[in-house]
Amino acid sequence: MPSELAHINDSAWEQLAAAADYPEASFRYVSLCSVDAASRPQARMVVLRRADVAQRLLEIHTDVRSAKWHELSANPQATAPPAATHEADGKAHFGVVTFRTEVLDWFQLRRQNNRRACFAYGANGRLASSQWVNP
Ligand SMILES: Cc1cc2nc3c(=O)[nH]c(=O)nc-3n(C[C@H](O)[C@H](O)[C@H](O)COP(=O)(O)O)c2cc1C
Repeated sequence: MPSELAHINDSAWEQLAAAADYPEASFRYVSLCSVDAASRPQARMVVLRRADVAQRLLEIHTDVRSAKWHELSANPQATAPPAATHEADGKAHFGVVTFRTEVLDWFQLRRQNNRRACFAYGANGRLASSQWVNP
């Protein structure tokens, strides 16, 4: 694998891990998209709470009464279903959603020659393939 792609993959995951740890990080807020019962796309902003680089897991927190919780529970094909429900500090409706990343789509906007690359991961989190989309 070309070393630049390996570097981009490592760097992308470093930034995702940093986003979970530091409120001011650039990837702290992510747009989470699910599909509702009528097959309509639904997108909303959420805070990235944890990134497990080795396993390629991403975690968010939400309310188990929310639309996203129900949509993700009903559609495990699109994303990993909600993994666990906790009751802590009186937060009876607190839910944790853990996603296993299958594909990471990396894009870099530049004045000229924007760059885009795609990375795919196996079930164990190991990088299975990487390729440039542009150039
Ligand atoms: C900056 C920002 C961060 C947010 N973070 C979360 C979050 O971590 N978890 C969450 O459930 N909702 C979060 N929200 C609210 C969601 O965007 C959304 O409005 C809400 O969860 C209801 O979405 P749903 O009805 O599609 O489930 C955030 C909103 C904003 C503007």
